[in-house]
Amino acid sequence: MAPSRLSTTFLSLSFIFSVLKLCLSIEINMEGLPDTGLNTSTWVTGELPPLEDIWDLNDIQIAAKNVLKPRYYASYRTAALDEITYQANLNIWSQIRLNGYSFRDVSNITTQTSILGYNFTQPFFIAPAAQAGHANKSAELSLASAAGKAGILYVGYAQKPSISSTKSIEEIAAAGLPNQTMFHQEYIWSNQSRVIDELQRMEKAGFKAIFLTVDNTGVNGIRTRSLRYTGAQDETGHDADFDLNSLANFRNLTTLPVVPKGIKTWQDAKKCLDLGFPAIYVSNHGGRVLDSAPTAVEVLLDIRKNAPEVFEKMEVYADGGVRRGTDVIKLLALGARAVGLGRSPMFANIWGEEGVSRMIDLLSTELKTSMQLMGVNDVSKIDDTYINTKLVENNYIQ
Ligand SMILES: Cc1cc2nc3c(=O)[nH]c(=O)nc-3n(C[C@H](O)[C@H](O)[C@H](O)COP(=O)(O)O)c2cc1C
Repeated sequence: MAPSRLSTTFLSLSFIFSVLKLCLSIEINMEGLPDTGLNTSTWVTGELPPLEDIWDLNDIQIAAKNVLKPRYYASYRTAALDEITYQANLNIWSQIRLNGYSFRDVSNITTQTSILGYNFTQPFFIAPAAQAGHANKSAELSLASAAGKAGILYVGYAQKPSISSTKSIEEIAAAGLPNQTMFHQEYIWSNQSRVIDELQRMEKAGFKAIFLTVDNTGVNGIRTRSLRYTGAQDETGHDADFDLNSLANFRNLTTLPVVPKGIKTWQDAKKCLDLGFPAIYVSNHGGRVLDSAPTAVEVLLDIRKNAPEVFEKMEVYADGGVRRGTDVIKLLALGARAVGLGRSPMFANIWGEEGVSRMIDLLSTELKTSMQLMGVNDVSKIDDTYINTKLVENNYIQ
């Protein structure tokens, strides 16, 4: 073919390709997330958008919605019943004001902290979440390695080896950097030999602590958004008669520190303190279990009012709806030592490790910038002098 005919053919092909791309791109429903001007008009449904388009954690969610099969997006995004708690988790931040002080030296900001005595670069961590393999074949491995490279905590959750979308306890441990500190989540399986076997494997693999999920004993929340695809509620295999004695005794099954995850009332926080746990994790599971449960902000306020000694004698972690550096600051100011991220790292994993690293970078930058603007140079100095929670307290306080 003559060179001029060749280039004409090439030009028409690329024109057809551009038109096709335009036809394939659709408006994405942003689900009421804050409008920060994300433009998806050049994105193609089912294709990974360029990471350069991504400027915050909400962008990451929309990118995941664009790429993932609807049933997989639903499985990450879903929450229980009317998703009242899920929405409350996202909206509570707008009811809290931050106090920014001038005349302070903010030339050197440190976000470093320790969690159960282990040092990390950031006071936020990747929370345990099932089914990481729906976003990427590397599944939990990219979460572990991105966390390791950034120096933040990853709390792994290896599901049953029979579930192809997950890696094993040992594979997750091996994905970390040498000397990377990782924790692992455990469920209260009704099959106790499974619990014992998994705990032994976690210890052997080098995980340093167990986050014991205590908020879906026996059943999961009814997550309508994903039920529409799966058609049935999964059997959890969790023990439904797990009581305070069982919690106390659970510690005899492992030499690792155990942190109850899913504390939703100040009374349960106090019980864990009385039992001598080193830490608790305030969480409503991202709104995926009991719908209408309070947000972490509200539970922390309740603990501060009714059992303030909890903060003096234990470490308190919290999560739910954290998408901004300012959200992290608000939870720290209420007494949390560290803050978990559930959906965002899962969504970011559509790009694999690179996406998770970008997510960590974006949140770190927001945290550091907001601290500087507030006149606080060290995360350990963030306390209640930096927040005004009156709006929340007027509406909710037990
Ligand atoms: C897809 C998905 C799976 C999850 N699986 C678990 C789990 O197996 N165990 C657990 O304790 N929490 C699980 N969570 C809850 C998270 O650990 C975390 O508490 C919650 O997602 C925080 O809210 P956020 O998603 O708004 O950040 C899961 C969350 C998601 C989104």
